[in-house]
Amino acid sequence: MKIKNVVVIGSGTMGSGIAAQLCNANIPVTLLDLTTEISEKAKRKIFESRPPLLIDKSKIDNIKVGNIENDFDLVGQADWIVEAVVERIDIKHNLYEKISKVRKPDSIISSNTSTIPLKVLSEKMSKEDKKDFCITHFFNPVRYMGLLEIVSEETNDHKKISFLKFFCEENLGKGVIICKDTPGFLGNRVGVYAMQVAMTEAIKMDLSIQEADAIFGRPMGIPKTGIFGLYDLIGIDLMADVLKSFLKELPSTDVFHEVAKEIPLVKNLIQTGYTGRKGKGGFYRMNKQNGKKIIEAINLKNGKYTPSQKTNLNFDDKVTLQDLVSRNDKYGEYAWSVLSKIILYASSLIPKVTKDYNNIDEAMRLGFNWQRGPFEMLNEIGVKFFAEKDKQLKLNEFIKKLYDENNNNFYGKRQIYTDLETLGKVKQIARFKNDNKSAFTYEHKDYKIVEFNTKANTLDYNSMDALKKASNKNLIIINEGMQFSAGVNLNYVMDFADEKNWKAIEKFIHHFQMTCKQLKYSNNIVISAPSGLALGGGFEVLVQSDYVVSHTNIVTGLVETLVGLIPAGGGTKELLWRWMQSQEAAKDPDFAPQKVFDIIGYGKTASSPVEAMPFKFLLGRDKSIMNRNKLLSAAETLIDEKKSGYKPPTQPIFKLSGSQVRDKMFQSLENLFRDKKIMEHGMEVGKKLAFVLSGGNTTIDNELSEDDMYALELEAFIQLIQMEKTQARIKHTLSTGKPLVN
Ligand code: NAI
Repeated sequence: MKIKNVVVIGSGTMGSGIAAQLCNANIPVTLLDLTTEISEKAKRKIFESRPPLLIDKSKIDNIKVGNIENDFDLVGQADWIVEAVVERIDIKHNLYEKISKVRKPDSIISSNTSTIPLKVLSEKMSKEDKKDFCITHFFNPVRYMGLLEIVSEETNDHKKISFLKFFCEENLGKGVIICKDTPGFLGNRVGVYAMQVAMTEAIKMDLSIQEADAIFGRPMGIPKTGIFGLYDLIGIDLMADVLKSFLKELPSTDVFHEVAKEIPLVKNLIQTGYTGRKGKGGFYRMNKQNGKKIIEAINLKNGKYTPSQKTNLNFDDKVTLQDLVSRNDKYGEYAWSVLSKIILYASSLIPKVTKDYNNIDEAMRLGFNWQRGPFEMLNEIGVKFFAEKDKQLKLNEFIKKLYDENNNNFYGKRQIYTDLETLGKVKQIARFKNDNKSAFTYEHKDYKIVEFNTKANTLDYNSMDALKKASNKNLIIINEGMQFSAGVNLNYVMDFADEKNWKAIEKFIHHFQMTCKQLKYSNNIVISAPSGLALGGGFEVLVQSDYVVSHTNIVTGLVETLVGLIPAGGGTKELLWRWMQSQEAAKDPDFAPQKVFDIIGYGKTASSPVEAMPFKFLLGRDKSIMNRNKLLSAAETLIDEKKSGYKPPTQPIFKLSGSQVRDKMFQSLENLFRDKKIMEHGMEVGKKLAFVLSGGNTTIDNELSEDDMYALELEAFIQLIQMEKTQARIKHTLSTGKPLVN
């Protein structure tokens, strides 16, 4: 069996996403729609999408387009035909009839439906077609969501289904979970139920939408969009359709019915065009006040909008679930009510919907970006605690059995859906050294693993300690959470800045530099295996590792100037050194400093390894991997390949022209200032960056060591952090999550 040619029918949100991911995997794909104009427009949207659906935009023309009238013969050449047209059974049935007539006998047909049962989709098919037909349920946006549910039946050719699973895992990088033909499969069945519980309980308990999102969010290990933010993101109208189909498919005894009733406020939002971010707004909306954009939140009682207020729950991010649900206030009550209902619902699905509860957890991780699924939550909170906390709670068979057996640690293996040796699996068996609060360290085989463990994996003194200690062995720095690292923990730095404790900041940055230096020059191989954000300090760790084994979905670069700082953990000097090795630099000593001045000055980022290469954020020696689950084993293989005779790199010597190149940089700053592209503070930041990149008070004949460059970075950083304007920028970023423009 092979898949060398794919046709995707329906070029809407999902069809485009699937076609783009096939293109990312270098599989020739044709996108068909009712007219070629529609599929051409879809192709343009793929090209312009943000975040980008393509890993390498230059490959866009590997996606061919056409229409179902004139180009249907292409279906006859396809190994896999993916149907992603509107959710209408009559249209889908018509299409299958047409496909059946032309498809190759050994081809696979699949539907991307999220709500129509497999048996309904295939009811008119011949036995032969049924064998080759399944549901491939991708999540939106296809490139970024890890989950693919394949729904199959007894009637299927199981070899083919296994092959398709392997193909999608290997080539499309998906976590593929095989599901039974039950409504909403696994992800949506539990995920949509969870959303509805979180919404209806918030209304019942009189919480504001911000309060609900603050609890049903980070404290529960759920993305910060929470419930109402997520509703806006998905589309309130789309959710209404999904609910209708659940109500139609599920028996009236299913408790899903209790949380899926139409809510007048929601109905009104849809009717007035408030369908979420794609519409006029939703539960949240953007408004203008005195020329300034502000976020407003809806009042669940009267439907009126007022400026959104941040909810302060007065606990840190690492609150345990037990502490959260034990709080003696409305927030604790809400958390318990929501959590207990989700756990009860998910466990009521065992074994009928799936016998593998672990698959539900993994579906929630991959499809909804939860840090842990309901069963892991139950295990963490403790079966005894769960069963005894609320006598009113009606336990189901699954939980009763665990409780009767006094089974408080029932959780077995993780990620049983894949045969790959994943980080999740290795963490369960590796020797665990919980050295410190900011990072976990594991020992496995002949290497160590460091996994950062803070909000967005931001870095502080402890994170560096963990890295430093772990570099006495071969080391893989990797993350199971969403981000490799969003950079230095600016809260941590600002706490010192508020006290004007510059010495403490200096100590931290110096520690950061010396840790990265150790990673680079230790006698052991250090591999960074990032996925998600690897920005600022996160990038500095990565760029000073020996190799990078990168997931294809990374966002990387040096963004310090956006908050009025410069990279001072070695990022400036390392990027400069990389550019000094280029051919252009051999001819012109000022080429590299000027190039890096632009890259760092504009805070350039790359959103894939392919985009990272032209900036030299990544090099040819680094690897890029489609499937996140393979990052650890790929890094391990690289260690095995390189460990014999490994020698750390030799230390570079920097020859820079000092004021000669600095003057050129200052000139370009003056131009930007004159054109009002930057303000005074931007000029200051630019000048400090120029000072470092030009080598400070040096001349071209002078030799600067790496330590000299580190010292220049540190000096510039300390001068910048002492500026009130920089502090204001950082505070703005910390409170809004966005840098100040200009
Ligand atoms: P969409 O409305 O964005 O796109 C549907 C496309 O199908 C349109 O371009 C339309 O012109 C085309 N189309 C309609 N009839 C056609 C026909 N006879 N032949 C060829 N093309 C035809 O829909 P979306 O959101 O992409 O959904 C597609 C499928 O994926 C549906 O079954 C939906 O349930 C499912 N799905 C949607 C998700 C989402 O988040 N939007 C997530 C997972 C599944």
